[in-house]
Amino acid sequence: MEKEQKNIIEVYNLHKRFGGNIVYQGATLSVKKGEVLTLIGGSGCGKSVMLKHLIGLLCPDEGKILFDGQDITLLSEKEFLPIRKRIAMLFQGGALFDSLSTFENIAYPLQEHTNLSSEEIRRKVKDVLELVGLDGKQNVYPHDLSGGMKKRVGLARAIVLEPEVVLFDEPTTGLDPYNTRKINEAIINLNKEKKMTCLIVTHDMPSTFEVTDRIAMVHEGRIIIEDQKEKVKENDIVRSFITGEKVF
Ligand SMILES: Nc1ncnc2c1ncn2[C@@H]1O[C@H](COP(=O)(O)OP(=O)(O)O)[C@@H](O)[C@H]1O
Ligand SMILES: [Mg+2]
Repeated sequence: MEKEQKNIIEVYNLHKRFGGNIVYQGATLSVKKGEVLTLIGGSGCGKSVMLKHLIGLLCPDEGKILFDGQDITLLSEKEFLPIRKRIAMLFQGGALFDSLSTFENIAYPLQEHTNLSSEEIRRKVKDVLELVGLDGKQNVYPHDLSGGMKKRVGLARAIVLEPEVVLFDEPTTGLDPYNTRKINEAIINLNKEKKMTCLIVTHDMPSTFEVTDRIAMVHEGRIIIEDQKEKVKENDIVRSFITGEKVF
């Protein structure tokens, strides 16, 4: 399928350090509207730090971050709120409320941020649960769900307000093959059916090649390559990362 070429996210010349720990020293990255882009790189190279910049949890030392053309690094917390609704993030573990049922967890953002009727809420919750393969689990509480199921409920909740962009921090890490497949199917589904742009951070290369359009790699504080997955595979640093042949 032809993808739109417009960039929904643009990171220019990002510099970020924590004390003497230089994480980024001039990283540039673009996420195209409608695509699935996967950010790869060794442990501790700054993948989560990149995602945190995109949702305003971290501020660059230098550089620009544009969301739909607007520099978000200059926004106050209040000005950032409308952007915050357009980007969702799936946190590790799903971050569910233990005292609420699956239905109540997912309905919560709808009750907080919309005026939908209870019938409309019921239908939307069913819709997103179908998307993650868990329709019928509405009345189950988190302690009766497996880790993988919790993550899928977390994804259902992250997308129920229909964000334009979904960020995934290691969505399949620690999951069994069945839940990995369900998460991957859900990502493909929400990209193709719901037209959501997805940015994934992961080490899981088989999943990456299954779901992504493009891959970008973080290495020594920069994005060293950003291209279609087949092209990226040919890069020497990427190849040694994937095969684990070389430590760098
Ligand atoms: N809030 C923070 N304060 C200080 N150091 C941090 C903070 N967040 C991340 N770091 C450091 O930044 C580096 C990149 O971290 P991270 O983005 O979490 O790596 P990963 O690529 O594994 O997701 C690490 O050295 C980490 O210790
Ligand atoms: Mg991380």
